[in-house]
Formats: sequence, C-alpha cells, structure tokens
Amino acid sequence: MIILFHQIIIPLLIPILALSAYSQNNSSSSGCDQLCGEESVPYPFGFSDGCRIKLNCSSDSRNIRIGDFNVRNVTSDQILVNLPAKCNRSVEELSLLFGANFAPTWRNGLLLENCSEPINDCVIPSRFVKSRIDIDDCKYGSRNTDHYNFSCYSSGLDDGADFLNYREVRSKGNCSVLLSSIMVDLGFAENASRMNGSSSLALDFEAMELGWWADGECDCDPNANCTQVVYEGRPGFRCKCNKGYTGDGFTGGEGCWKGQLVCFNVLNSI
Ligand SMILES: *[C@@H]1O[C@H](CO)[C@@H](O)[C@H](O)[C@H]1NC(C)=O
Ligand SMILES: *[C@@H]1O[C@H](CO)[C@@H](O)[C@H](O)[C@H]1NC(C)=O
Ligand SMILES: *[C@@H]1O[C@H](CO)[C@@H](O)[C@H](O)[C@H]1NC(C)=O
Ligand SMILES: *[C@@H]1O[C@H](CO)[C@@H](O)[C@H](O)[C@H]1NC(C)=O
Ligand SMILES: *[C@@H]1O[C@H](CO)[C@@H](O)[C@H](O)[C@H]1NC(C)=O
Ligand SMILES: *[C@@H]1O[C@H](CO)[C@@H](O)[C@H](O)[C@H]1NC(C)=O
Ligand SMILES: *[C@@H]1O[C@H](CO)[C@@H](O)[C@H](O)[C@H]1NC(C)=O
Ligand SMILES: *[C@@H]1O[C@H](CO)[C@@H](O)[C@H](O)[C@H]1NC(C)=O
Ligand SMILES: *[C@@H]1O[C@H](CO)[C@@H](O)[C@H](O)[C@H]1NC(C)=O
Ligand SMILES: *[C@@H]1O[C@H](CO)[C@@H](O)[C@H](O)[C@H]1NC(C)=O
Ligand SMILES: *[C@@H]1O[C@H](CO)[C@@H](O)[C@H](O)[C@H]1NC(C)=O
Repeated sequence: MIILFHQIIIPLLIPILALSAYSQNNSSSSGCDQLCGEESVPYPFGFSDGCRIKLNCSSDSRNIRIGDFNVRNVTSDQILVNLPAKCNRSVEELSLLFGANFAPTWRNGLLLENCSEPINDCVIPSRFVKSRIDIDDCKYGSRNTDHYNFSCYSSGLDDGADFLNYREVRSKGNCSVLLSSIMVDLGFAENASRMNGSSSLALDFEAMELGWWADGECDCDPNANCTQVVYEGRPGFRCKCNKGYTGDGFTGGEGCWKGQLVCFNVLNSI
C-alpha cells in the first residue's frame, strides 16, 4: 500500500517540476524573464522590461544587481543587498538603492566617512565594528589611534517611518563616503525573545535590508496576507502566503498553493 502511494506521488510530481522549470524561464504570459544565471526571483521581480519590478542581471558574473550592489536574497519580506566595506564609495551610490519599488528600511545603520560633522546615531562600539570590517585602509579621521571613530547614521527613535530618507542621510553630517552598512536582524530577535524573554538581536555586517512593494492597492491570493506600504505618499503592497502554502502570493503571479513541500517531504522520507 505504501509503495503504491509513492508510485502515485512521483508521476504527479514530475509534471509539476517540468511546469515550474518552464515558468522560471518565462513567467506566465507576461514576457517577464525571472532567471539570472542559476537563480530565479519570484513575481513581481524579474530582469526584463515586462516585469513589474525590474532588477539587473550582470552579464558577466550572473549576479542579481541593484546599481553596483550585488543582491544576496529576495524574499517575500525584503531584499538583502551586499555592501562590502569600501573606502572610496561615494555616498551618492546610495541613491540607487532608493528605487521606484524598494528602499532601505530603518533597520540599517549606515557607516559613513569623511563627514564635516561626526554622526553618532548607532550604539555600536567602534572596536566591535573594527573587528568585523576592515577599515584600516581608509584614510579618514585619526585611523592610527585607538580612538578611530566612524560615523554611523540611523533613523531617529521618534521617526516612525519604515524607510530611511535619502535627503536626510545626505544632509546630516554632510558625509561624502559610504563605507558600509550594518543590518539588524529582527527575525533573530523575535526568536531569541520568544525563547527566554531576553532582548538579544543579531547584527549582519556589510549588508543592507531593502523593503519592497508593488504599486497599487492590495491584490493578493485569498490564502495570502497583504502588507500595505506607503512610500512618499504613494500606496503599495506585498503579498505573503500563509503558513502551509507556497508561492509568491500575488493574484497576478502564481498565487499560493498547498502541497509542494508535502510532496518533497514524502520523497525525502522514503
Ligand atoms: C528553459 O531554460 C533551460 C536552460 O536555461 C532550457 O533547457 C529550457 O529548454 C528552457 N525552457 C523553455 C520553455 O524555454
Ligand atoms: C520569453 O517570452 C518572450 C515573449 O513571449 C520571448 O520574446 C522571449 O524570447 C522568451 N524568453 C525566453 C528566455 O524564453
Ligand atoms: C539597471 O541598469 C540600468 C543601466 O545601467 C540602470 O539604468 C538601472 O537603473 C539599473 N537598475 C537597477 C535596479 O539597478
Ligand atoms: C534566501 O531566503 C530564503 C527564505 O528566507 C532562505 O530559505 C534562503 O536560504 C536564503 N538564501 C540565501 C542565499 O541566503
Ligand atoms: C576605489 O579604489 C579602487 C582601488 O583601491 C579603484 O580601483 C577604484 O577605481 C576606486 N573607485 C573610485 C570611485 O574612486
Ligand atoms: C573622534 O575622534 C576624535 C579624536 O580621537 C575626537 O576628537 C572626536 O570627538 C571623536 N568624534 C566622535 C563623534 O566621537
Ligand atoms: C558639505 O561639504 C561640501 C564639500 O564636501 C561643502 O562644499 C558644503 O558646503 C558642505 N555643506 C554643509 C551644509 O556643510
Ligand atoms: C572628503 O571630503 C573632502 C572635503 O569635503 C573632499 O574634498 C574629498 O573629495 C572627500 N573625499 C572623498 C573620497 O570623497
Ligand atoms: C526562528 O525559529 C524558527 C523555528 O524555531 C526557525 O525555523 C527560524 O529559522 C528561526 N529564525 C531565525 C532568523 O533564526
Ligand atoms: C531561561 O531563563 C531561566 C531563568 O531566567 C533559565 O533557568 C533557563 O535556563 C533559560 N533558558 C534558556 C534556554 O536559556
Ligand atoms: C496572516 O495574518 C493572520 C491574521 O492577521 C495571522 O494569523 C497569520 O499568521 C498571518 N500569516 C503570515 C504568513 O504572516
């Protein structure tokens, strides 16, 4: 009986896999290319003009890119971007991360250099940062002393906004170099506090979190949650399938479906 069950599952699975391989090349009928090298991104992201949110795919290294930054991951909640420490990166490059459908969230601390006034927004000991990021080569400030201090920008406590404000970053301290970024991982914090009521959190160095949204009002699968986003007065939204469902959650995308993970689990347990 068990053997028969597996024989049913496997033939069912093959068309599903073939179908998803097909749709990864060329999502539905919209003419949106969602494949970059080996990696695919979920709807509404893609790399061609037909895509609702267009990212770049570098032709040489096959990396997903936003501006000059490599994208580490795209999930239903966030885009994670790599920001390796670099002493001569102009702060103007930051403007590329403030796109039409994404922007850095408040959970980032920006490490800035060459400021006319030091910024001291983040409560991160400079020795701790030095141990994680190689900033010795940077020629700003008193680097040859123990007092070497970088500037760190973060949004104010009383600023309830979800996203950083580019103009405010630029005007505060008048810094000209974007050295790197530190991201606070609240997913870890939630887990840690659930475990024992402690308030620990994880810091992700040389990374930046972008929040993203599709334009318009909520249009999600019935089995998905909609997160409304307001950015610069314009409405946007994100969909996320509920627990037990897989998919991008968008009505205009794949929506949500049940079962694929269950099939893989059945296969794994053979
Ligand atoms: C999708 O791409 C793979 C390789 O990238 C190719 O083998 C396959 O034929 C493509 N399928 C379609 C429908 O274009
Ligand atoms: C995807 O579809 C569009 C239009 O249907 C077509 O022009 C394009 O060549 C396709 N791309 C791939 C990779 O199959
Ligand atoms: C992709 O590259 C083009 C041309 O270099 C640029 O205009 C565009 O802003 C880039 N888009 C993203 C999301 O980085
Ligand atoms: C991207 O995020 C997904 C979902 O959180 C996770 O399963 C996956 O391991 C991540 N990939 C990388 C390369 O970090
Ligand atoms: C930054 O420095 C590297 C080498 O240290 C150099 O290759 C690159 O062109 C410089 N970039 C800018 C914008 O000055
Ligand atoms: C940075 O270091 C210099 C010299 O060590 C010191 O005078 C200055 O006040 C420091 N700035 C900040 C913001 O701590
Ligand atoms: C910011 O710095 C530039 C030169 O780097 C200078 O010309 C400008 O006056 C400064 N602005 C402020 C408000 O300090
Ligand atoms: C650092 O600031 C000075 C004065 O504001 C400016 O002339 C110089 O170009 C800046 N250096 C870099 C690497 O941006
Ligand atoms: C939080 O805990 C869940 C379940 O214990 C785990 O699957 C998830 O990976 C954890 N998230 C993080 C960010 O550690
Ligand atoms: C949680 O805290 C209690 C007492 O404060 C301690 O006895 C227990 O070992 C802690 N559990 C974990 C998983 O840290
Ligand atoms: C969606 O929202 C419901 C009710 O607000 C909540 O119970 C559920 O956990 C949410 N699902 C996800 C995936 O966030």
